[in-house]
Amino acid sequence: MEKVVSTYNPTNVLRAIERFVVVGQRWLKIAGGVKADLLEAAIRHTSFQSSNVCAELGSFVGYTSTRLGLRLLGHCQHSPRVTSLEFDIVHVCISRHISNIATLAHVTETWAGHVPLITPRLAEVFGERSIGFTFMDHKGTRFHEDHHHLDKLSLLAASSCTICDNVVHPGAPEYVWGAKHSFMHTCYSLPEFAQQDLEDWQAVHMARFSTSGRPALAVQRSEMQT
Ligand SMILES: C[S@@+](CC[C@H](N)C(=O)[O-])C[C@H]1O[C@@H](n2cnc3c(N)ncnc32)[C@H](O)[C@@H]1O
Repeated sequence: MEKVVSTYNPTNVLRAIERFVVVGQRWLKIAGGVKADLLEAAIRHTSFQSSNVCAELGSFVGYTSTRLGLRLLGHCQHSPRVTSLEFDIVHVCISRHISNIATLAHVTETWAGHVPLITPRLAEVFGERSIGFTFMDHKGTRFHEDHHHLDKLSLLAASSCTICDNVVHPGAPEYVWGAKHSFMHTCYSLPEFAQQDLEDWQAVHMARFSTSGRPALAVQRSEMQT
């Protein structure tokens, strides 16, 4: 990374990771291309309070946390504003290194830990209703349980957005089954980054909670269209 990034900043780091994938390293699975566009559109439509933070489940090399950090610069009081949870210690080290090179270490941080064991730490550090945006990208077969866990810990902010990646490939069947019955979910069919012929879905859950903590209003699908 140090060899290919001439000037250290978030945009150059994102481009360098994308180029690495495009020139043939497809094993490095990142939420780039239209997946990143959807993520950015969702962030734009999420009304962040100054105290809200963004949580990512599964950091890998820190690609999306860099994108989120770049978008949330100047948004919230909390420092850092993007907290990414990762259980593989090598990935934790790479992600933190990427954050340094992207000059975002004051905005994004990576916690070493296994979801769901590390999840309560979010409540301890940031408090109830603190998470304005969640990116679930760790393990599709756990999405439904881990989203329910965030909800049970009262972590989701009054107005919050959750995006689940890789819902079809490799798959999150139980999450999608639950989402099918919820009017607050929308699934988007998108190609994998640098693999136009490989279809995947991202599930977007946008919710408003009333002060009682119960869902009050679902964001209409049309609001998400860019
Ligand atoms: C697809 S990658 C994440 C990509 C990243 N979100 C991005 O867009 O740049 C999935 C990551 O989740 C991590 N992971 C898988 N299960 C986990 C768990 N239960 N707790 C924490 N991290 C987990 C893996 O080690 C891997 O690094």
